[in-house]
This record gives sequence, structure tokens and C-alpha cells, in this order.
Amino acid sequence: MGEQGSSSSSCFAGFVVVLSLVLNASVLCNGGKTSNFVRKVEKTIDMPLDSDVFRVPPGYNAPQQVHITQGDRVGKGVIVSWVTQDEAGSNTVIYWSENTKQKKQAEGKVYTYKFYNYTSGYIHHCTIRNLEFNTKYYYVVGIGHTERTFWFTTPPEVGPDVPYTFGLIGDLGQSFDSNSTLTHYEMNPRKGQTLLFVGDLSYADNYPNHDNVRWDTWGRFVERSVAYQPWIWTVGNHEIDFAPEIGETKPFKPYTQRYHVPYRASESTAPFWYSIKRASAYIIVLSSYSAYGKYTPQYEWLKEEFPKVNRSETPWLIVLMHSPWYNSYNYHYMEGETMRVMYEPWFVKYKVDVVFAGHVHAYERSERVSNIAYNVINGLCSPVKDQSAPVYITIGDGGNLEGLATNMTEPQPPYSAYREASFGHAIFDIKNRTHAYYSWHRNQDGYAVDADSMWFFNRYWHPMDDSTTADA
Ligand SMILES: [Fe+2]
Repeated sequence: MGEQGSSSSSCFAGFVVVLSLVLNASVLCNGGKTSNFVRKVEKTIDMPLDSDVFRVPPGYNAPQQVHITQGDRVGKGVIVSWVTQDEAGSNTVIYWSENTKQKKQAEGKVYTYKFYNYTSGYIHHCTIRNLEFNTKYYYVVGIGHTERTFWFTTPPEVGPDVPYTFGLIGDLGQSFDSNSTLTHYEMNPRKGQTLLFVGDLSYADNYPNHDNVRWDTWGRFVERSVAYQPWIWTVGNHEIDFAPEIGETKPFKPYTQRYHVPYRASESTAPFWYSIKRASAYIIVLSSYSAYGKYTPQYEWLKEEFPKVNRSETPWLIVLMHSPWYNSYNYHYMEGETMRVMYEPWFVKYKVDVVFAGHVHAYERSERVSNIAYNVINGLCSPVKDQSAPVYITIGDGGNLEGLATNMTEPQPPYSAYREASFGHAIFDIKNRTHAYYSWHRNQDGYAVDADSMWFFNRYWHPMDDSTTADA
């Protein structure tokens, strides 16, 4: 434009300059936002083994790495897991509700595994069933040796207008930044009731021979949250632990031994993809690292799964996966593309509200876009604005030792509404069947500060345009 102007009359040149200023301004005003927040760049390093957050609880055979997750379809079941180190000890969980104080008990099972030259402690998993909704329960593990008591609150009964608050963390690891992220989540006054975890837990595989001691330290580090509220697990690439060079060829071995999920309750045949209902949300968990092509078990399951979602019962349809489909960083760019090609038409057809992913160690939120028109010969291969499509959120910014993804594609593509290379967590706060308030919190701010936020309008009950940039 400038060159064209210089070869024309001065009047025309002036017009061109003004026009280009207007065009530039409109691009700046209407496009997505790349945050100009500058954090102090420091190396992200793991906390040393003698850190207080990794401390082994005192007492003979004391239960450690205590964690809970949903244990059934609707939230009346809880899987309680813990590790004992000296001997197997009891598999019993004793529990009682705050209301009745009548003690009950459930029996679990114990497992051990070996990984190269590492032998695990005794890993206990026990499912407690038929709990009352919306009730505080106490539970005790370590019966017969050193007993430890924890508590949790069951969710309200599944229903369309039940408010509920989910936390979101991904790619957490066990660095000093990870500790900051978890503290900010715990201290956030919005108070997440259940955490949706989008994969990459311990990063033990970054150590020589995938040193599984770092799976144990991670379990002790996060106990302060996950022993008291369920974390809903998604697998990431750091859960694969595939190491043929040391004879370890069974993918997901440490992860599947340590973290159980209620996959059978949703008729899944493997723990890597499954679904749960919780309050007013239907949550589908997918595996970026299990086969997902046509005819595969995950594909067949998901094909049957979407039609089961009843938005009159659970208005909010949330999908978790590890590798994002819409990412504009130069890290893991297009890694989610093959899965997107397979499944995106279903996400649009069934009006998924939001997709949370991790993998990229930064934060990004998309507009509602889809890219499903392409048929090899028509050339229609760009994302377009689509009010039936989900918002895609990358929340792989938990703070693991690999550090931040800071390098972004330029210019920011129109599908990207907001992006920022900072560590943090998010909250998805469902108010009723039509509205949910979403906020992302960077670790450099005070606990209550929203660095990015958006009101979600439910795609089934209130499918109004909720985009935050004008030309998305
Ligand atoms: Fe990852």
C-alpha cells in the first residue's frame, strides 16, 4: 500500500496513509489479544527431594500420597487411593458422614509394580459407594498402623441448574512454580470443588530411567489438595513412560497402577477415555495417546457416548484432552490435528461447550470456531466462526520443570482470543443451566485476580454469541 501511494499524487498518498492507519487500528481493536504481561524469566526447576512438600508422614507404615477421584457415574462413589511403604497393611477405609457419624467401612485392593530398578510401595485403591449427595464425609486410612484422617464433600445430585465450581490445572510437575500454582488454586476465593486435570502429572520420565521416586514425591506434593477433593484425571504424554531401552515397553504402567478412574461406569474398555456426570456437567475425558482412528475402541466408544448426553439433565458438556486442537504457540503446533480431523464434526454437532487441553506450557483461549468443511478438493481449510463449536482452552501452564512456552506464531490467528506465556490455573464456575463464569489466574497476581475471563453462554440452553473479539 505504501509503495502504491508513493507513485500516486500526494492527495492519494495521504488517503492511503489514513486508510492503512484505519485498517491497522481495526485489526488491533478486533483481533485476539496477545498479553503484554512480562514476567521475570527464571529457570523452572524441580523442588529438591528433601523439600517439606515431599515429606513422608511420620509413623510406622503411615499412608502417603493419599488421593481421591470420582468413583462412579454420578458422584455417589469415591475412589480412595494411598501408598504404604513398610508393608502392605490394611486395605480398609473407614468413613462416616458428618450428619450421621455412623461408621462404615469398605475394602480395597493392593498393588505393586516394578519399573526397571524401581519397586513401588504398596498402592491401595478402595471404592466407597452409595454415599449421600452433597454431604461431608470423613475417612480414615492406615487402619492397624498409623491412621490418618481426611475429608471430602460429595457433589449435589446431578441436575440441570446445580451450581458447581471446577478448577483446572494441567502439566503440573513438581517445580517451585508447580507449588505456586497449587497454592494459588487452593487460595483462590472462588473455591474449586473438583479439579479437572488435563494431563502430565509428575514428569518423572524426565529423570534418568524415568526415576519413579518422582512419582512418589509428586503424590506427596499434591496430597494437600487431592486427598480432600477429587481430581479428574486425563493422560498426557508424560504418563506414557515407554522406555524400551531399559526394557519398559508397557505404556502408561506407573500411571495406571497409581491412578484409577471409574471408566467401566461409562462403558469404556480402558482407563484412558471415559466420562462422568457431576452436578450440572457431563465431562468426557479423551486420550491423545491412545488410538482414536475409525474402528478403534476409543472411536467406537465416543461415537456411542455423545448421543447419551442429555442436556436437560446435564446442560454443560465439557471435554478434557491433553494435546490441544487450536494452539497458536510454536510448541506442539498441529500435534492435535489428526484427532481434530477425526472428532471435530461430533463436537460441533453435539454442541460441546468447552474443551480444556494442556501440553503447551502456556495459556490460550480460542473463540468459537470450527474447521470441518474441508473435503480434500474444495480448499475450505480455514477455521470459521461457529456458534455451535466449543471454546478451546489450553491450560498447560501448571509450571513443570520444562519451563514456559514463550514463542508464539505471528500474527496471532483470528481463532485465538487471548494468549499469554505465564504459569497459572483456571476456574470454571457454573451458575445455572445458561451461564458459567470462567477465569484464568496467573501466579504473579494476587489469589483473587482474573487475568483473563469470560462469561460462557450454554450452547444448548442459551446459544447466544459469547465471543470476546469482534472479528473472530
Ligand atoms: Fe504434554
